[in-house]
Amino acid sequence: MSTSLSGAQIRQKFLDFFAARGHQPLPSASLVPEDPTVLLTIAGMLPFKPIFLGQRSPDFPRATTSQKCIRTNDIENVGRTARHHTFFEMLGNFSFGDYFKEQAIAWAWELSTEVLGLPPERLVVSVFEEDDEAFAIWRDQVGIPAHRIQRMGADDNFWVSGPTGPCGPCSELYYDFHPERGDAHIDLEDDSRFIEFYNLVFMQYNRDAEGNLTPLQNKNIDTGMGLERMAQILQQVPNNYETDLIFPIIKTAAEVAGIDYAQADEGTKVSLKVIGDHVRSVVHMIADGIAASNMGRGYILRRLIRRVVRHGRLIGIEGEFTTKVAETAIALGEDVYPNVRQKENAIKAELQREEAQFLKTLDRGEKLLAEILERETQQISGEDAFKLYDTYGFPVELTQEIAAEKNLTVDLAGFEVEMEKQRDRSRDAHETIDLTVQGSLDTLAEHIHATEFLGYTEFAATAQVAVLLVQGKSVEAAEAGTEVQIVLNQTPFYAESGGQIGDRGYLSGDQVLVRVEDVKKESDFFVHFGRIERGTLQVGDSVTAQIDRACRRRAQANHSATHLLQAALKKIIDDSISQAGSLVDFDRLRFDFNCPRPLTSEEVQQVEEQVNTWIAEAHSAHTAVLPLAEAKAKGAVAMFGEKYGDEVRVLDFPGVSMELCGGTHVSNTAEIGVFKIISESGVAAGVRRIEAVAGPSVLDYLNVRDRVVRDLGDRFKAKPEELLERISGLQADLKNTQKQLEAAKAELALAKSDQLLGQAEALGSFKVLVAHLEGVDPESLKTAAERLAQKLGEGAVVLGSVPEEGKVSLVAAFSPGVVKAGLQAGKFIGAIAKLCGGGGGGRPNLAQAGGRDASKLPEALEAARQQIQSALQ
Ligand code: ALA
Repeated sequence: MSTSLSGAQIRQKFLDFFAARGHQPLPSASLVPEDPTVLLTIAGMLPFKPIFLGQRSPDFPRATTSQKCIRTNDIENVGRTARHHTFFEMLGNFSFGDYFKEQAIAWAWELSTEVLGLPPERLVVSVFEEDDEAFAIWRDQVGIPAHRIQRMGADDNFWVSGPTGPCGPCSELYYDFHPERGDAHIDLEDDSRFIEFYNLVFMQYNRDAEGNLTPLQNKNIDTGMGLERMAQILQQVPNNYETDLIFPIIKTAAEVAGIDYAQADEGTKVSLKVIGDHVRSVVHMIADGIAASNMGRGYILRRLIRRVVRHGRLIGIEGEFTTKVAETAIALGEDVYPNVRQKENAIKAELQREEAQFLKTLDRGEKLLAEILERETQQISGEDAFKLYDTYGFPVELTQEIAAEKNLTVDLAGFEVEMEKQRDRSRDAHETIDLTVQGSLDTLAEHIHATEFLGYTEFAATAQVAVLLVQGKSVEAAEAGTEVQIVLNQTPFYAESGGQIGDRGYLSGDQVLVRVEDVKKESDFFVHFGRIERGTLQVGDSVTAQIDRACRRRAQANHSATHLLQAALKKIIDDSISQAGSLVDFDRLRFDFNCPRPLTSEEVQQVEEQVNTWIAEAHSAHTAVLPLAEAKAKGAVAMFGEKYGDEVRVLDFPGVSMELCGGTHVSNTAEIGVFKIISESGVAAGVRRIEAVAGPSVLDYLNVRDRVVRDLGDRFKAKPEELLERISGLQADLKNTQKQLEAAKAELALAKSDQLLGQAEALGSFKVLVAHLEGVDPESLKTAAERLAQKLGEGAVVLGSVPEEGKVSLVAAFSPGVVKAGLQAGKFIGAIAKLCGGGGGGRPNLAQAGGRDASKLPEALEAARQQIQSALQ
């Protein structure tokens, strides 16, 4: 092989090759997939999944892409093997029901040998064991000797995009690094010799959850060539990390650490490779709108950033460094993925914040972890792992890795139990649709039609009862007093979606009245949750469905105000702000958005003023249903990560805001009346939340506030404008009183301790005093110990106390002679505190510790006495 192509050249040659063969080159899709079954884009085919499944028709019969991908299933191998990554680029050529096996194989061969210049005798291929056709094509048409075509089982050569989905047998191309080892034993699993670089999937089935395969409408081709792997082969470097796609990042990290990569030991190299790999992931993830959090892909991002920081520490980097290495990754990626440069500020801000936050907790967490590692010999308990996670931000996987370095495991099941407890604590009471309802509707779905929604224009309509459910079970009729779920053939009721709450109202017939308390969507059906107030309701009944217009008006005001709020944030804060979630209720709205920092109070005020200006300007609403591409071309803002059909509804307040939205809205901004922001806060790293009220809800809000102020005024005997001063005065009084109380307590402790002086025992030239001081707080206990030590001269003082129920406080004060004799106050008191179920430490001459089990205090003090005695004898 004489060529040494750069990563960029390989990418371009691949895309050009297929473009010249009728493939439409398409840009990489986002790392955040539309497909809800996976968290991140894991393969080049993912954006085309609906096409393979026949759910969407392709714009072109052939396409080629360089797709950014992230896989984290092998994360612990990153840096340790030559070729594992989290972030990588997959080059792909795709046929949507166009060419198939024969052509795909022929082109793969031509590209590999003629364009990229791989010597044919260095290539070995695999086929699915039952795929005689592929075997024959390789042997007879390409001319590969039969013994260099390996048949492999379904684990290796049957590719599925996930647990379910489009799939098919595949054929892989391998490069042989050591042809001198001969052809007698070709073992493709031997990765010291072979590397798989190109996978051709003959995608022809859909796999369901039970594993059944149904033929797809078309036979398709999906392929993936690992760009980094091809670069490793062509650049003749020992691993993917040393290719020009990643090595510059490693170099930057090595420079920051003051290390020469070539001279570094294996462990240091692993850390540098981890940094090189992960930094690419985090840069592209943040550029694609992901913010670090404790959930889903946000958690993956946080975990990756934390691994980068920790490996930085392992190689001796102190302080913050991630933005420096990120800069190199941005420079490497920007030509092909320009959003990394456009989002440069967001990327660096997110990294800086996450890093600073993690560094702060790392020190404390590492201390706790060291204690745990010292204490445990086999396993870290689920409780400890959870504490490290919850309090110190250690991803459990990180704890596992550190534990593994010391040959310890982590009780993951126990960790999950703690996690579940946490989830229970924070679970939203507002659960989504009852699963039994979903089950019943699934079985009925064939017999009924999708509900037609009339509520954009109608507030009341005649409708037929198509399905009647009681406790999720289908029934023919139900009587007054029953809680029911009803599907109508058509309805003016809006069903909860896009953040907007479902309508309230009534269904009424000749003899029957049903109060509708909520409406939710279950696939294409609108399910009305309610209670029969009067009469009997039967399937087939004709009813008048009427929504509560006052409630709807409130929801509309809040919903349209949400759109104006998003537009105002973009205008005033940053155009790159995007929605991360929203809630539109009858009495409030909540809007979450990606933003790396809190807003200042001036900014909040400006945003509020802007929204109110638009309200006052009376902009009328225009709605249109358009093809998605057309809507996007017009500049409509789409909700990040939301799924849209081919046709979308666009809501436009011209010149102010244009968004894709299926919700219901005011017809003119003036109908909103007024808008008031109630709070701005952080919900997760990089995600801010604004809570606000609009329209009639503002009056409710003001009334509640007004009442609170009036009650406070009554209680403090002050007018509203005097309240602040009155309360500040009371707070100052309280502080003074607290100070006096502390002083009195300390004095009492000292008085008590003076009485103890007589109890000091003489031990050679030392005086030893070990005592229990009743009900003294830790601060006073320390002062007492210091004073006693001073009075005793050369000697040791250990005091214990139970300042409040369930708490033990301990302190040790040792004179220089005692320290010289080998007793260290910090270590000593830490060990004593363990006996009371706690820990702690400090300096050699003075240290404090705490515990939880007060019943053990006498025992612990006795142990202290004995240990001191034996040490000083
Ligand atoms: N989708 C195939 C893979 O990821 C090409 O290997």
